[in-house]
Amino acid sequence: MLDEQYRREALTFDKQQLPSIPATVGWEAPSNIALVKYWGKKAIQQPVNPSVSMTLSNMHTQTRIHYSRAKKDEGRIWLRFNGIEDHPFKDRIQRYLNHVKPFFPFISHLDLHIDTRNSFPHSAGMASSASAMSSLALSLCSLEKDLLEEPGEPSDFFQKASFMARLGSGSAARSVYGGYVEWGQHEGGSDEYARPFPGPIAEPFPVLNDSVLVVSSQPKKINSSSGHALMDNHPYREARAAQAEENMGRISRALKEGDFKSFAATTEEEALSLHAMMLSSRPGYSLLKEATTEIIDRIRSYRYSTGTSVAFTLDAGPNLHLLYPTREKEKIRVWMNQQLKPLCEGEKMIHDFTGNGPQRLDK
Ligand code: PMV
Repeated sequence: MLDEQYRREALTFDKQQLPSIPATVGWEAPSNIALVKYWGKKAIQQPVNPSVSMTLSNMHTQTRIHYSRAKKDEGRIWLRFNGIEDHPFKDRIQRYLNHVKPFFPFISHLDLHIDTRNSFPHSAGMASSASAMSSLALSLCSLEKDLLEEPGEPSDFFQKASFMARLGSGSAARSVYGGYVEWGQHEGGSDEYARPFPGPIAEPFPVLNDSVLVVSSQPKKINSSSGHALMDNHPYREARAAQAEENMGRISRALKEGDFKSFAATTEEEALSLHAMMLSSRPGYSLLKEATTEIIDRIRSYRYSTGTSVAFTLDAGPNLHLLYPTREKEKIRVWMNQQLKPLCEGEKMIHDFTGNGPQRLDK
């Protein structure tokens, strides 16, 4: 168990390792879109079922931590989120830092000025917590390495970052790698951390387009934590876990064989199952909007009538992710602009594609 190992290693922390001069660490980490959805938790932030995601490129968070030896007995934290001091997000960061102190004891002895910026709207069902928490976790892991004066990033650096990101937000565990990423017990995978998708990816999947159709940028009425909790006693809990397990196999084959038809069938089934779980929770709720279902109908009619390779998925929110290969990009963009754009809030669409993963900012 990595949990025990990291706790044991943290016990060797010595105050001598605290920095004599202030310094900065930082990471830019991308968002990701799940193709097989993680929904429901067991133990501490461990998933009921395995998941796989595609890392994005343009949608990311940049976090920088300026740190120095604490001026008082206990270290203090300052947060600036998108340029705003003491943003409501601070409480979540504070809770997270308290939660990870057993792994990172230096937090108690440092003053931390955390500056974090999203390239896309926060809390709009666009997995902003995935990029925010992974960039914070990566920065903390770099801070630890700097204190230990270990050069470079050792081979298990990203495994630890994924473990730590998971404690902040499950989906964040997958944002520490580029391309396609798996998390959870499935063919050698772990519930404690994510890993890059094993095996080669066939065309057209190495670089897939993802256009987010923003139906609403308002914060969600029910956050993901409450949604996950409603899976604890969900009547379909077991069936949902079995479905996700089966869909891991289907997506994996589709990615390896370049089978867009099977990919589309699986991602759409996953998206609709996620929302079906919300609708059938006790109490049930819906995050879908009228425009969401209208756009789904239009995507499906377009695909059936033209045979175009285009698929949708949804996160825990009303916005759609349109997934399509570059060879169809020109044609799809024309159709999107005519048929889907008018249904988006303020005609807003965010065009993205498969990304290469996080980047260190301070080196
Ligand atoms: O990472 P969380 O706890 O916000 O959960 C998000 C879960 C989904 O985004 C709905 C699905 C997923 O696997 O990312």
